Amino acid sequence: METAQTAQISVTVDKNVVQKKVREMYAKVAQNPKGLSLHFEMGRGLAEKLGYPKADLDMIPQEALDSYAGVGYHIDFADLNEGSKVLDLGSGSGTDLFLAALKIGKTGKAIGLDMTDAQLQKAANLARKYRIANAELKKGYIEKLPFNGSTFDAVISNGVINLSTEKETVFREIFRVLKKGGRMAISDIISEKQLSDRVVSDPTLWAECIGGAMQQDNYKSAIMSSGLKLKEIKDNPQYRFLNPDTQKGADKYGVKSASILAVKE
Ligand SMILES: C[S@@+](CC[C@H](N)C(=O)[O-])C[C@H]1O[C@@H](n2cnc3c(N)ncnc32)[C@H](O)[C@@H]1O
Repeated sequence: METAQTAQISVTVDKNVVQKKVREMYAKVAQNPKGLSLHFEMGRGLAEKLGYPKADLDMIPQEALDSYAGVGYHIDFADLNEGSKVLDLGSGSGTDLFLAALKIGKTGKAIGLDMTDAQLQKAANLARKYRIANAELKKGYIEKLPFNGSTFDAVISNGVINLSTEKETVFREIFRVLKKGGRMAISDIISEKQLSDRVVSDPTLWAECIGGAMQQDNYKSAIMSSGLKLKEIKDNPQYRFLNPDTQKGADKYGVKSASILAVKE
C-alpha cells in the first residue's frame, strides 16, 4: 500500500490497483478509440482545441491522434532543436512523441516510455509504418526511469504524472535524467483545492485523471524540491471533462489542466 501524501491530509491508495486500472483504461484507448465512451475527450479535435498547430498535426500519423488523450500543449516550452534528445513520459499512442521527432530531425532522438503494452505496440507499429526512424518506444515506469543521468535535453509528458502515486519520485527522476540546462515541459491535471479523502482513495477516479490531481501548491513544491527551477505555469481552461457530473465534481475542487516549464539549471 502506497501513501499519497499531501500537506493537509494523508490517505492511502494502492499503487498496484491504480496502475492496473490505468493500464486497462489506456489499453482500450489504444485499441478502440472511436468505440469508447469516456468522460474525457480524445483525438484531433481535442488537440486542436488545446492549441496544437494544425500544420504540425497534419504531419504525424492520424491513427496516433485518434488515441490522443493529452490535456495541454507544451511542445513550445520544450524548445526542441535539430539534434535534441527528448524523452516523453507516458507517451501513449505517440502524438507528442511524433511531433517531437519532427522538430529534432535525423540527428535527434525521441524516446517514448509507457507501461501499457497496447499503447507501446500501437506507437511502435506507427513509427515503423511511417518510417519515423528517430522515434523509439521503451516499456517502463515513470517512477524509475531506465536511463543514465544527464541523458536528455528535454523531458515532456502529457496527462500522465497525475496518474502516479509517487509524484515527488517522478520529478526527482526527471531532474536526474535531464542534462544541465535541460527542460521539463509538461501538461497535467492539478487542483486548486485539496481533494477529499473519498476522492483520493478511489483508484477508479485516479484512472479517470481526477483522483490523482495534486493540489497546485503541493505540485509546485514537489517540482521545486526535486531541484528543478519552475519557470512558467499556464492554465488550459479549454480542457473540460465531457460528462457534466464529472465536470461538476471537478469544478468543486478546481480540478484543471496546466502546462508547466521547469529547468535544470
Ligand atoms: C492520459 S494517457 C496520455 C497518453 C499520451 N501522453 C497522450 O497525450 O495521448 C496516460 C498514459 O500514461 C501511461 N502511464 C500512466 N502511469 C504510468 C506510469 N506510472 N509509468 C509509465 N506509464 C504510465 C499510461 O499507460 C497511458 O498511456
